[in-house]
Amino acid sequence: MCGIVGYVGGQTALQVVLDGLRRLEYRGYDSAGVAILTEDEIRLAKKAGKLSNLEKELQERGDQVMAAGNCGIGHTRWATHGGPTDRNAHPHLSADGRVAVIHNGIIENFAKLRAALEAEGIEFRSDTDTECVSHLLSLELRKTDDLAAAMRNVCTTLEGAFTLLAVDTRTPGKVVGARRNSPLVVGRGQGENFLASDVSAFIAHTRDAIELGQDQVVLITADSIEITDFSGVPVEGRPYHVNWDLAAAEKGGHEWFMFKEIDEQPRAVADTLLGRVGEHGEILLDEVRLTDQDLRDIDKVFIVACGTAYHAGLVAKYAIEHWTRIPCEVELASEFRYRDPVLDRSTLVVAISQSGETMDTLMALRHAKDQKARVLAICNTNGSTIPRESDAVLYTHGGPEIAVASTKAFLTQLAACFLVGLHLAQVRGVKYADEVGAVVDQLRAMPELIKKVLSEMDAVRELARSLAEEKTFIFLGRHVGYPVALEGALKLKELAYVHAEGFAAGELKHGPIAVIDQGTPVVCIVPSPAGRGVLHDKIVSNIQEVRARGARTIVIAEEGDEAVVPYADHLIRVPRTPTLLAPLVTTVPMQVLAAEIAHTRGFDVDQPRNLAKSVTVE
Ligand code: G6P
Repeated sequence: MCGIVGYVGGQTALQVVLDGLRRLEYRGYDSAGVAILTEDEIRLAKKAGKLSNLEKELQERGDQVMAAGNCGIGHTRWATHGGPTDRNAHPHLSADGRVAVIHNGIIENFAKLRAALEAEGIEFRSDTDTECVSHLLSLELRKTDDLAAAMRNVCTTLEGAFTLLAVDTRTPGKVVGARRNSPLVVGRGQGENFLASDVSAFIAHTRDAIELGQDQVVLITADSIEITDFSGVPVEGRPYHVNWDLAAAEKGGHEWFMFKEIDEQPRAVADTLLGRVGEHGEILLDEVRLTDQDLRDIDKVFIVACGTAYHAGLVAKYAIEHWTRIPCEVELASEFRYRDPVLDRSTLVVAISQSGETMDTLMALRHAKDQKARVLAICNTNGSTIPRESDAVLYTHGGPEIAVASTKAFLTQLAACFLVGLHLAQVRGVKYADEVGAVVDQLRAMPELIKKVLSEMDAVRELARSLAEEKTFIFLGRHVGYPVALEGALKLKELAYVHAEGFAAGELKHGPIAVIDQGTPVVCIVPSPAGRGVLHDKIVSNIQEVRARGARTIVIAEEGDEAVVPYADHLIRVPRTPTLLAPLVTTVPMQVLAAEIAHTRGFDVDQPRNLAKSVTVE
């Protein structure tokens, strides 16, 4: 959470920074602020609420000196220490006004640092952990006039996770950055350079980026980029070219990013599958630092993830166990390391994360590595921390997902999970190349089927509008339909702020059926009757059970499935798919339903209250 931007160059820093913050607002949006370096002072503006509040304030102020500055930093916040108020918004100034600092992450030893600074007579003006960094930096700058050296010295006293950017009035034309466990990339321009949480902040200006490693400090001027480790040893960052353009990060004519991202799913899934089959029919991952023998030695798989990615993992379990015959457990990343899981060299831990920065997932991964387990990442964000720390990586290549709640990330994670399952099955010799090829062909047919579902969503939107005032929703599914039910309920909670719960349909009678009342909307995900018949028949009985108790049933069923017709108050058709792959189509109507209900209720579909896209604290 928190988006940060730094700029030095020939343009108006204020404008560049504000434009960058707009693209990073998905990382946090409870307050925003900027600090612009003028000839001899820092001009600061910060405001609680969305970026538009800050922009309004700046407009009213009409500070021409600030607008003329060519060097500055900006921040969009998701509060951790201290509520989302004007005074807690970043940047934070040092007591002497010399230094301004912005921060993403948590300084875990801030209470100790703050007490020590207060004992020296420094008065704090906020409740944040960040403010102590600005005081520490200005104290360091009394000992040295080297901004990068001062930042390095400060970093060695900090514990926790941080990306920091700072400007200093006595070091004009420079922005210093530091990173530990939080993201920071450099944008290399012509006569201008950028620092940001991710490339979307600067791709309007340059597509040449440099990835910063762990525990590194970077100093940018208009013409130079100097990177060192925390001990001052110069290091080379990894340069790379960003191959998606600005349009990809914009709404493309849709009212909300989420509507666009839902629509992009056929292409996103196709991109996940692109180039995955080698010349001998083998599945190709993006980065593999494991031998085939390592994978053959695997006798247990754990999937760790959070939120929507966790639901993708729950689906993956069915496929991985079915195809590989290896036991597979799915764990909430935030719980994983606290229950002392049994891990060793023959355990494969699969970490699924859209952002690649989710702290709970990262910590689960690190715990697994400490126990010598092998780690494979499924991730959408190139160069982020989780894939960098993994033994093998499969990027979902879904493009940027801006809406906070995941939609296309989920479908691409499903596709990626299927590929991982097939890869494991193939390497271990459980499936032959032609069997794997047959499933790959089925997967490759999915984007067209998803497109078909999307082309028939008008009725779902209309249904959503008629359900917009409902207070409770229940989602039911069996087999892979069960995680889909959980995901449907999560989407509705996240977007429309209504109470929604997903259940395994068979579990309903053991308690939750008591909540069904006259008119309660119950969304039922029905498996293909062409698959395991018993599964289908059981859920048809479950639909009858809830309907008999007054539920208003919304049934998602395959084309040609006539058995459900008498029990469906509303019927949503999806094309026929193989049972395991069905979540790639059955999820889509639920995404549309949730997004449309939220839109009808007048909520911010892209930035739901209380949530952040990338949660970089535990
Ligand atoms: C946050 C988001 C969710 C997302 C989860 C995991 O909570 O609001 O939409 O599913 O993080 O994110 P990741 O980037 O690890 O997939």
